[in-house]
Amino acid sequence: MPGTLPEGTPAGTAQQEPDGYRARFEATLNAAVDGLIIIDQWGSIEVFNRAAERIFGYRAAEVIGRNVKMLMPDPWQREHDQYLRNYMRTGVPKIIGIGREAQGLRKDGTVFPLDIAVGEARGERRQFVGIVRDISWRKQVEAAIRAREAELRLIIDNAPAGIFMADGLCRIRTVNPEFCRLCGRAQEDLLGIQFADIVSAEDRGIVDEMRQAAQRAGDPGTRDVRIRRPDGGLTPCSLHCSYTVQDEEPLFVAQVLDRTPELMMEQQVREQRERLAHVGRLSTMGEMASGIAHEITQPLTAIATYAQAARRMLARGVQGTQDIEEALEQIARQAERAGDIIQRLRGFMRREEVRSELVDINEQLRAVIRFADVDLRHHYTRVELALAPKLPPVQGDSVQVQQVALNFVRNAIDAMADAPPAQRVVEIRSARGPDETIEFSVADRGPGICPADVERLFVPFFTTKAHGMGLGLSISSSIVAAFGGRLWYSEHEGGGAEFHVSLPIALPVEHA
Ligand SMILES: Nc1ncnc2c1ncn2[C@@H]1O[C@H](COP(=O)(O)OP(=O)(O)O)[C@@H](O)[C@H]1O
Ligand SMILES: [Mg+2]
Repeated sequence: MPGTLPEGTPAGTAQQEPDGYRARFEATLNAAVDGLIIIDQWGSIEVFNRAAERIFGYRAAEVIGRNVKMLMPDPWQREHDQYLRNYMRTGVPKIIGIGREAQGLRKDGTVFPLDIAVGEARGERRQFVGIVRDISWRKQVEAAIRAREAELRLIIDNAPAGIFMADGLCRIRTVNPEFCRLCGRAQEDLLGIQFADIVSAEDRGIVDEMRQAAQRAGDPGTRDVRIRRPDGGLTPCSLHCSYTVQDEEPLFVAQVLDRTPELMMEQQVREQRERLAHVGRLSTMGEMASGIAHEITQPLTAIATYAQAARRMLARGVQGTQDIEEALEQIARQAERAGDIIQRLRGFMRREEVRSELVDINEQLRAVIRFADVDLRHHYTRVELALAPKLPPVQGDSVQVQQVALNFVRNAIDAMADAPPAQRVVEIRSARGPDETIEFSVADRGPGICPADVERLFVPFFTTKAHGMGLGLSISSSIVAAFGGRLWYSEHEGGGAEFHVSLPIALPVEHA
């Protein structure tokens, strides 16, 4: 019978209320969740309650009277007699009065972790009471939590993003290796400091705003900040943070992404686009070279002619200086004209950073016509202009906008080279487009483009010309895209080609 009271139950109590006491004691014993084992001073088991039966897999009858060490795996089993003897002799307890973790041995031979507390009853006989709790489940849960923690740690440590957690005062509590790398600092130099302290001074306001927004709404979005490294450099980062309360403690969890590669890539793309645009301008210049040479030759020839005339007048000894003055005046004017042409060329060919400026489309279209003037005249080509007045400016680079329009005009001239001169008309239009855009287009009355070629127009190096580079349209479309615009082709009524560009109207200047 489980929980059977041994013969040696303290007699005093039992005598006063023998039946009631025994019944209550047994009920209590058997109701206990924890295993309860009472042994005598030699280790012999006297009481073994239901919970103990459940824990060890023995019936009470199987263990009562046997040595308690049968419930222990080695080394406890081997050493238990010795423990008891030592304690009886010296009175120095190893376990008595102290709870601790140990291991139990079940009937089926399995070993399991247990918590054990031992107390001593010093009545007429010495007895020891052990309260035992199977902690396998707790151990499993602990192990699972540890495994989960290790897993999370693995994820965090290998995350491509820098991660840190900070307390309510924004003091860093946990970091991962990527965050350390971004900061150029060791983990121990980061723990305990405030995140704002390693952010560039100008960006501290952002961190503060994010902290407040996170505390208020939970999601302050993603912002760009620069982290100050000990080597004096700055790491450009995008910062995302969230806020929670864990165990009543405020907690910030932040992710920090290194933007250096992204920015380097952007820079490279920008540089490449600029180089390409420059190549495109050179190529357009090449196409126009004979026209330009002609244009510059004209004032130079005029200068030479006026200079000779003036010399002749001086040789003849003309009366008064008026004629000579006039010749000199002409020379100065023609020199200026040649200078203007070269100036325009230099402006067009300049290889500077792309500028983002307010661009008046009409002004650029007029500049392109001035520029292409000789070329147009050379090819007996007329221009019809239909510019909508008072267009708001777009955001872009004026030279690049000219480059796009000039290539359209050059292509139109080429397309109509074989057409009868009366038909050689380039129509240039500008207007407001839908959704806050400005559109301009260049149309011709040439043969147009066959459907198979339309698809390849914007492919680099696609050309149908003997000396074409095939870069004009592909460069133009990347220029337009860089300013958030669109470039497309349509058939012009009457069969010619028409190229369109749409650019967003510049936003009004913000007053910060
Ligand atoms: N207005 C046009 N009419 C007919 N074909 C055109 C026109 N504009 C462009 N194309 C076609 O598109 C090709 C590519 O033009 P582009 O990129 O400017 O390079 P390229 O002028 O050096 O050939 C041209 O070779 C031509 O076949
Ligand atoms: Mg071209």
